[in-house]
Amino acid sequence: MHLTTALLSFVGLLTTAFAAYNPSSSSNIAVYWGQNSYGQSTGSFVQQRLSYYCANSQLTVIPLAFLITISNPTLNFANAGNNCTAISGSSLFYCSQLEADITTCQKTYGKTILLSIGGATYSEGGFSSSSAAVTAANNIWAIFGPTTSGSTVPRPFGTAVIDGFDFDFESTVSNMPSFANQLRTLMNSAGGKTYYLSAAPQCPYPDAADGPMLGGAVSFDFIWVQFYNNYCGLNSFTVGSSTQNNFNFATWDNWAKTTSLNKNVKVFLGIPANTGAAGSGYESGSTLASIIAYSKSFSSFGGVMMWDMSQLWANSGFLSAVASDLGAPAATTVATTLQTVTKTSTSAAATGTAVPQWGQCGGEGYTGSTVCAAPYTCVYGGVWWSSCQ
Ligand SMILES: *[C@@H]1O[C@H](CO)[C@@H](O)[C@H](O)[C@H]1NC(C)=O
Repeated sequence: MHLTTALLSFVGLLTTAFAAYNPSSSSNIAVYWGQNSYGQSTGSFVQQRLSYYCANSQLTVIPLAFLITISNPTLNFANAGNNCTAISGSSLFYCSQLEADITTCQKTYGKTILLSIGGATYSEGGFSSSSAAVTAANNIWAIFGPTTSGSTVPRPFGTAVIDGFDFDFESTVSNMPSFANQLRTLMNSAGGKTYYLSAAPQCPYPDAADGPMLGGAVSFDFIWVQFYNNYCGLNSFTVGSSTQNNFNFATWDNWAKTTSLNKNVKVFLGIPANTGAAGSGYESGSTLASIIAYSKSFSSFGGVMMWDMSQLWANSGFLSAVASDLGAPAATTVATTLQTVTKTSTSAAATGTAVPQWGQCGGEGYTGSTVCAAPYTCVYGGVWWSSCQ
């Protein structure tokens, strides 16, 4: 009897510990896998097979990077590609490990697995016409979507089926909205599970490459903005200020609510996972905690995206720090000086005091409860003031 109870609660723990993408959570963590960007060819920091990372409970979304050409589809997964075998009559390879691992990641570890299209080397420039884009989307769906009996298309992931697509273009592409919308149509009519579309614009607004898709033509579930390698990145964040000059999460939040076709789209804070993962924009410690707390104050905030998995695994403690920053109450980690406030308000919360609508729930010097009465959440209103709304 006791044993049964113990086992049941253990199972319960497992199911809550691993989570797929959750549109109503602001703590999703997405990390790109596939490019071995840390660059080791041997040793403990070389990119490992996908399932190795899926066993980590803090990750929720893993985009596989990249499908580097679309019209005559080609994949590149750096060293993971060495474990795959060429499929004759195509430019694709078949990866038995990915067929097994995608399924394990989804079924055992509850991960959302996307295929990311593009990357810095993508050079096809999109499609010559809208109808060429639709034809290409149908082909990509046949290759990576659910299997259809009698189909003879090459299937790099065998019977495994990804959970959607991510667009990461860094140069101008033509007719991409037609391609994305056709994928959306195919995903919507497939049923069986929820499929997602995401995009990875760079932070200067509007994004040059993904702009036509983001300008209201395509319905995205979430996007992750690359807040690195640009003047609007993490390195421009002013700690302790409720208004930001160059760091522009506010601009993207406004995009979500005004320009985006899907007004419920979530915006992730895209960050480098290690010092060398980007040319500029790597932040850690209390500065990163402040940036995450600030970004979390926007209602479109969906979590953090990191580039990339190999960099992250070589940066000991970084993933747990990000997860902890995401889990912290929005109002209490805004400035680095608020660590003591966090402690005090945690004990206030422990007394069970719930703050009513419009009541104060955070701000520098505030020592009261940070817990809002249902259904309100604590919304950042400046360094000195957060309230339940
Ligand atoms: C390649 O296969 C080996 C042997 O199964 C495995 O240990 C390794 O993790 C794989 N590498 C990648 C990057 O998938």
